[in-house]
Amino acid sequence: REIFLKDYKMPDYYFDSVDLSFLLGEEKTIVSSKIIVSPRIEGNSHPLVLDGRDVKLLSVKVDDKDLKEEDFHLDSHHLTLTRPPSGTFTLEIVTEICPQNNTSLEGLYKSSGNFCTQCEAEGFRKITFFQDRPDVMAIYTCRIEADKTLYPVLLSNGNLIEQGDLEGGKHYALWKDPFKKPSYLFALVAGQLESRDDTFITSSGREVSLRIWTPAQDLPKTAHAMYSLKAAMKWDEEVFGLEYDLDLFNIVAVPDFNMGAMENKSLNIFNSKLVLASPETATDGDYAAILGVIGHEYFHNWTGNRVTCRDWFQLSLKEGLTVFRDQEFSSDMGSRTVKRIADVSRLRNFQFPQDAGPMAHPIRPHSYIKMDNFYTVTVYEKGAEVVRMYKTLLESSGFRKGMDLYFKRHDGQAVTCEDFFAAMRDANDADLSNFLLWYSQAGTPNVKVVSSYNSEAMTFSLKFSQGVPATPGQHVKEPMFIPVAVGLLTSSGEDIPITSVYHDGTLETVMENGQPVFTTILKVNKKEDEFVFANIAERPIPSLLRGFSAPIRLDSDLTDEDLFSLLAHDSDGFNRWEAGQILSRKLMLSLVADFQQSNPLVLNPKFVEGLRTIIRDPSLDKEFIAKAVTLPGEGEIMDLMEVADPDAVHAVRSFIRKELALQLKEEFLSTVINNRSSEPYTFDHENLARRALKNVALAYLASLGDEELTNLALDEYKSATNMTDQVAALAAIAQNPGLAREEVLLDFYQKWSDDFLVVNKWLSLQAMSDIPGNVANVQNLLKHPSFDLRNPNKVYALVGGFCASPVNFHAKDGSGYKFLGDIVLQLDKLNPQVASRMVSAFSRWRRFDDYRQALAKEQLEKILAANGLSENVYEIASKSLAA
Ligand code: ARG
Ligand code: ZN
Repeated sequence: REIFLKDYKMPDYYFDSVDLSFLLGEEKTIVSSKIIVSPRIEGNSHPLVLDGRDVKLLSVKVDDKDLKEEDFHLDSHHLTLTRPPSGTFTLEIVTEICPQNNTSLEGLYKSSGNFCTQCEAEGFRKITFFQDRPDVMAIYTCRIEADKTLYPVLLSNGNLIEQGDLEGGKHYALWKDPFKKPSYLFALVAGQLESRDDTFITSSGREVSLRIWTPAQDLPKTAHAMYSLKAAMKWDEEVFGLEYDLDLFNIVAVPDFNMGAMENKSLNIFNSKLVLASPETATDGDYAAILGVIGHEYFHNWTGNRVTCRDWFQLSLKEGLTVFRDQEFSSDMGSRTVKRIADVSRLRNFQFPQDAGPMAHPIRPHSYIKMDNFYTVTVYEKGAEVVRMYKTLLESSGFRKGMDLYFKRHDGQAVTCEDFFAAMRDANDADLSNFLLWYSQAGTPNVKVVSSYNSEAMTFSLKFSQGVPATPGQHVKEPMFIPVAVGLLTSSGEDIPITSVYHDGTLETVMENGQPVFTTILKVNKKEDEFVFANIAERPIPSLLRGFSAPIRLDSDLTDEDLFSLLAHDSDGFNRWEAGQILSRKLMLSLVADFQQSNPLVLNPKFVEGLRTIIRDPSLDKEFIAKAVTLPGEGEIMDLMEVADPDAVHAVRSFIRKELALQLKEEFLSTVINNRSSEPYTFDHENLARRALKNVALAYLASLGDEELTNLALDEYKSATNMTDQVAALAAIAQNPGLAREEVLLDFYQKWSDDFLVVNKWLSLQAMSDIPGNVANVQNLLKHPSFDLRNPNKVYALVGGFCASPVNFHAKDGSGYKFLGDIVLQLDKLNPQVASRMVSAFSRWRRFDDYRQALAKEQLEKILAANGLSENVYEIASKSLAA
């Protein structure tokens, strides 16, 4: 059943308070809830419909009296009170659930023997019957009763107001959350956990206890998470003036978790891989992810919890905004340029394909079958880009004014994306014209720019034309409001001062405080739009879309020469990288055409020299160099082809890598040697940048597969004192089949077999491998003792990893597709959310040749024909086939 945004109706009843009581048991768990219900309109007599899934109803009372048979109706998804009282009343419901059998990991479930919850989006209905929707906000109390030895720690939202021992070895705790919240923010944890404790004093002097809970043996690995939490709290005060609002903030790490983490009020629950880190077991990438996600969940306290979503269509209201906030936080803690590069790569590699495929949807979808399927890169990452555009248009100070007004107007409310837009607009008295289209139109806008220089008039013109491709259900699109940040460079690479721009027949001064600017924001909002720069003394090289100021595909008339010049000189670091990427994409596409026509492959020497200059430039940030010498991924290139050809793209990318390794061998060798360090591991920008560069160089060298270079990688592997260097050396060696690969993989497993997070790296490294016929190896790993289909991290590592190797997943014999088709059906019985994420790998099947299309289609049809398929998988598989 499909749900539509246009059908939204306010609830007929509000819940003022909710008192929950849990009797946690091994066989069954009893949940009692006592709710004060009041009608939205006094005297109304609508039925009260409560959601419920897989819960057994034991009793239901209204105002202390058992409800009569004829006054309620029960089906597999609802408990309906057909004739509720006309005024405020008390509703008491008792249900029975079995968390120990809950493999879906939503609602209340067990992970390594401990109880925990995941309620967003619609998991609360698996705990008890409830109006499980975010616009129903209430004050909660939660009483937890359990065996004291098995579950010494009992946690829920808010403040602990009472605890004590009970008969029969049991104990209890009573929690009260003073803030109103929707059910999706409810959380409960019970188990054998210990905490790392710290305190944070807020700017207004509140002392907050911080606790990070894990099994005892993992406590030493929570130092970085605690550091990240305190940094996030401080940052939100400094940048947004937002303080924490309770005396206690808990984080719990659990090994079985569908997503990354969850922002439950004052009781964040995390996938352990986003909490636990030590230099020996976690990479720089893991450290950075922990910083970002700890920040993300903490920032939700204001953007998500204090101000929440009216309905799930508004998800981007909290997620786009909070991703934007965590990106900014990570930027401020590290390198802004490199963070931007990483975020844009992610958008291009994952969101652009989604926007061009059968699951394309606007950041605020119009409809869904299963909300879990809309926790997407579009809602999150494109949503963050939309928030970033406000900041670009209104500048930092205007953006902050908009945020302040948003909280002033909506604290304690469940609101919509228009409310956010209105706050930004009103706080700045801004004309944002048709900006709201970003919320309703799916698809990545295509923008074309043509430039021309008039030496007599000393003007330089940029002519833009835009179009948004058709997407499922949206055939006709309107022109969008696109902020394009532009700078102009002289032929020797200096920024040209910009004073005024003609647009729509008027001359606009763009100076700031009487000074010319070096970057200006052009507001493109028509199908065709021209901007003319005045007082330009020579033909400039335009630096377009600086900082990636809008989530679009830009096609310009820049020549290769212009691009090499931008690569060498642009003062905008992002665009310096981007110039190299545009050159790489062009080069790769033309070599792919050569490959397909069986022409010999030859690498453009200017490209090699361009990269040589970058590697040798001592003034550049090392992490930037590492990004700049990394080629666009195979997916990104396939995405630009009429018919995606994974074999050709793989052959070409491997060819260029090896060719670069040969021609830049001296540079790469000295890079490895000069960037070793015998200092103990520290996670700071200088050191992580150094490691990133060294390891990129090592990967290039080892791609050649000769003995000397394989031995170099082996030495790096053996001498590594941290996981970043160790796993990078392992991956470098594992690129090529052979004895060295086998030996070092075995060695790594033996070292780390009892650390499940490290073993997942070992699984995913093998799964993602491009070595021929890898599907057989992956099949074997499914049977390996370290694998478990019920643990999402392991599935993402092995099955997700495999789908990330285009050559193997899209193998022409159909073995990759069959592998995935079979696994999806097995997984769907255990965990529909995870199954649905995996089946998404099929969604771009029409991008391939007819032969591959037929093979993929066969698998999708097989999946759809299965009995008892979940709505989650049904939605993705059926939409993939239909589009
Ligand atoms: N709100 C969580 C976050 O921080 C994600 C929850 C995802 N839940 C789900 N069922 N997909 O982004
Ligand atoms: Zn979030």
